[in-house]
Amino acid sequence: GLPARVTIYEVGPRDGLQNESAIVPVEVKAEFVRRLVDAGLPIVEATSFVHPKWVPQLADAADLAARLDLEGAVPLPVLVPNERGLDRALEAGSKHIAIFGSATQTFAERNLNSDLETQFAMFEPVVSRALAEGLDVRAYVSMCFGDPWEGAVPIDQVVRVGKRLLDLGASQLSIGDTIGVATAGHVGALIDAFGSAGVDVDRLAMHFHDTYGQALANAYAALGKGITTFDASAGGLGGCPYAKSATGNLATEDLVWMLDGLGIEHGVDLDAMVEASAWMAKHLGRPSPSAVVRALADR
Ligand code: HMG
Ligand code: MG
Repeated sequence: GLPARVTIYEVGPRDGLQNESAIVPVEVKAEFVRRLVDAGLPIVEATSFVHPKWVPQLADAADLAARLDLEGAVPLPVLVPNERGLDRALEAGSKHIAIFGSATQTFAERNLNSDLETQFAMFEPVVSRALAEGLDVRAYVSMCFGDPWEGAVPIDQVVRVGKRLLDLGASQLSIGDTIGVATAGHVGALIDAFGSAGVDVDRLAMHFHDTYGQALANAYAALGKGITTFDASAGGLGGCPYAKSATGNLATEDLVWMLDGLGIEHGVDLDAMVEASAWMAKHLGRPSPSAVVRALADR
């Protein structure tokens, strides 16, 4: 059967806002994070300590962190690519970080100015220092189902990269469909392959983008394989500025609607979520990409 309870890992303030052409004022970002926490989300990824020239949308990471309760009951992780990013995150008081690797050579070059092999040397000191400081470390692996430059990505290559990221000491691996090309059968096969390689399903999270409208079907397929952590973005915001054709993430509200229908617990208040996303959509000046937000907002 399906799991009785899942954890929704909210990425809207980071994955969502990193891709907006408008720069959102820092006080609006802080209010967005607070609204998401108040809606009952158990974890909210807040921002990234990446190079400000690479992602100007999140150049205010330190300022935002100073406005947030980084030691509260709800973890507010931040992306960290390298030791300089870790220094900045530690200085800001972060307790939870996420490294982000690539399953393909081209995306490692484009997103990290690194490559398939040298990325591990960049992450290794980040993870060991972070663990020594008592931080929790998550790892992402991107381009797990397809890559805009390389096309299909072999399952064994994804498993190899993912295992190496976990072996650095990350507690959880988030499997990214960065450009939203995954389909349900492929999702099942990839999760099975991690299982055959000895990775416990409890250490995996799924990170779906909805470019081809498959994110919810893919989440359902992953639920059937025993996955209990799903990344999602308030209102379906999101994308990656370094991945051509990446659009928004699986919308948190769409996921919540499906989970409610299945009787799976998640702890999120759907009305408060819709309100937070509708409020953010007004700030961004366009309707939310989430079908559920559009159906429920301003009823
Ligand atoms: P680089 O230019 O190779 O960096 O960028 P470098 O190490 O050569 O350093 C050059 C200069 O940058 C130095 O300054 C460093 O101090 C500085 P200088 O000495 O010349 O004055 N620098 C930094 N400054 C601030 N913060 C830092 C930092 N690092 C170096 N962290 C780097 C390499 C990794 C930094 C760059 O490529 C980068 O920032 N990439 C991040 C791109 C990004 O954020 N992409 C989006 C997130 S990933 C994603 O969305 C996918 C995901 O959602 C999952 C999925 O969907 O699949 C997670
Ligand atoms: Mg993403």
